[in-house]
Amino acid sequence: MLKILVIHGPNLNLLGTREVDIYGKTTIKDINKSLEKTAKEENVELEIEQTNHEGEIVSLIGGAKGKFDAILINPAAYTHTSVAIRDAVSAIDIPTVEVHLSNIYAREEFRHTSLIAPAAAGQISGFGLDSYILGLKAAISAIKGKNKK
Ligand code: DQA
Repeated sequence: MLKILVIHGPNLNLLGTREVDIYGKTTIKDINKSLEKTAKEENVELEIEQTNHEGEIVSLIGGAKGKFDAILINPAAYTHTSVAIRDAVSAIDIPTVEVHLSNIYAREEFRHTSLIAPAAAGQISGFGLDSYILGLKAAISAIKGKNKK
């Protein structure tokens, strides 16, 4: 069975109460439940992690080689700052899909740049919980050789 690593970055554990005007009331538990439901339908296995620590994200990505077929990641604020996460994505030969709940291009200018996106297979931004579901489906397509990077 295909295995996909899902990584939620910093502050996403606070979803549901965090800036609800931007992120809505969806919690990380809701997202994970929807992801697991879709994974079951698509016959793939997920491992889901959340961490607030950049180095931990780097280690999770580096450790994915040989264990996972794709990575689905919301790098959260590290999207805009982390050369280390980008380099980790570039270092592994596993399709990586970047997702964001909000449309980062419709927000403050500092959010318009993703350091991760050029190393990723693609990015989905702005569809709330659906960004994750679309991202999971894109990751599965990428594994199967469509849109592979
Ligand atoms: C986010 C967008 C980032 O700019 C922000 O720092 C987040 C969440 C999103 O999912 O919309 O923490 O990645």
